[in-house]
Formats: sequence, structure tokens, C-alpha cells
Amino acid sequence: MKIVKVKDYDEMSRYAADYLVKRIAELDKPVLGLATGSTPEGLYEELIKKYKEGKVSFKNVTTFNLDEYVGLDKNDPNSYHFYMMEKLFNHVDITKENVNLPNGVAPDLQKECQEYEQRIQKVGKIDVQLLGMGMNGHIGFNEPGTPFTQRTHVVELDESTRKANSRFFASLDDVPKQAITMGIGTIMESKEILLIVSGESKADAVARLLDKEEVSEDFPASILRNHDNVTVVVDEAALSKTK
Ligand code: F6R
Repeated sequence: MKIVKVKDYDEMSRYAADYLVKRIAELDKPVLGLATGSTPEGLYEELIKKYKEGKVSFKNVTTFNLDEYVGLDKNDPNSYHFYMMEKLFNHVDITKENVNLPNGVAPDLQKECQEYEQRIQKVGKIDVQLLGMGMNGHIGFNEPGTPFTQRTHVVELDESTRKANSRFFASLDDVPKQAITMGIGTIMESKEILLIVSGESKADAVARLLDKEEVSEDFPASILRNHDNVTVVVDEAALSKTK
């Protein structure tokens, strides 16, 4: 794992944006895996800025998001589909047909998971997978205990994850109990992984990741140590508990 230490959230966002812009320019038909949540918001703002300055085009870019809540329609303001449109896609020249997120209201969720995997396989592999990390080490919505071999699947969300994400909802009761997520097997097949982490609330998780806790399904992000092309961009606050 390559560790890039940055000062704060803004520097993390700028570094990650520069990284993605460079890769988009280098690749013929870039396939990006994208994440939602608080961590990538600044990165998406930077990408929009760079697009407006003419420094990047998304015309040839295909995207696959990591996850989506079960039960939320794509027009629901709390859905990850809505988030992606608001925070990035509506502001850049991406072709909407090249945007992929799991459908959280699909009538047959198992079939939806299989079809999502097939869509990824059809374009080959994800070139760069962007990840955030949960306080419990989850990546995507792969909570502790998820088998490393699993592919896109339906998950029951941890209470801790629902509580952490309730800040976006009117109340904890409104936070869905299930989500569709790319599995760790799927994530690990990406050619390259860019993990961004910021803030003191992630300091324990970062210490577990970097201080070489053994690779274990109890701490999903630990699997990233087995991937040969991972860059972790992490700020000082998130590094504050690392040895
Ligand atoms: C989001 C995702 C999650 C988040 C993680 C961190 O698509 O897959 O794994 O990356 O929960 O969330 P934030 O960035 O809100 O702290």
C-alpha cells in the first residue's frame, strides 16, 4: 500500500482529484468505481471545478458505484443515485448511459446483484476503485464478518453504520436496514484502488489498517493489504492514533 499523508480534508480532496484526472487522461475508456458518503464530497467538488476549467472530460468515462440502499428509489434525496447526480454527474459531461448504480428498488434483488456483476464484467475490469472506509473498517457496505470472496450482494446494515449515516436522514428509523453492495471479491478485482480517509473519527480504523493488524474478515479494509495497487490518501487527524 502506498500511503500519502496530507494535512487535512481539503488537501486530501485535491490530491484525490488530481489523481483521478490524471488516470482519466491516461486511460482510453476509463472505468471508475465510485463511493458516496461525506469523504468524497470535496473530491467531487474539485472534479467539477476541473471540468469547468477544461482540465478533464468524462465523455469516455464509465462509472460503477459501490452501493445503494434497498428500498430507496433513485429520485429519493437519500438514495446514492440522487447523491451522485447532485454531487457530480449533473455538473459534468458524463453520458448518463455510462453511469451505473445498483437499483435499490429492483423487484428481484438477487437478480439485480447478478446483473450488476455482469455489467461490470461486460466492460472488463474497474480501472480505479475509489473507496471510503467506515469506522468499523467497512468498505462499500461490507460489514465486519463479510466473507472476502463475496460478490455484489444484499447486506443487513450494522446498527453502528445506520447510526453513523442517520445524520443524512430525518431520524434513525428512516435509515434503511439493507443495502446492495459490491462485494469484497468484486472490489479486489479492480486494477487499482484509491482509499481516501479524513478526520479523527477514523483514527482508530486507520491505526488498525496501517499498524498491520492481521488481514481478517473482522476488519474488512485489512484485505486491501493483499492488493498490489492501493493508494491510501489520509489526513493528519485520521493518522493521529497510528504508531
Ligand atoms: C459509500 C460507502 C461507504 C463509505 C463509508 C465512509 O459508498 O461505500 O463504505 O465510504 O461508510 O463514509 P463517510 O465518508 O460518510 O465517512
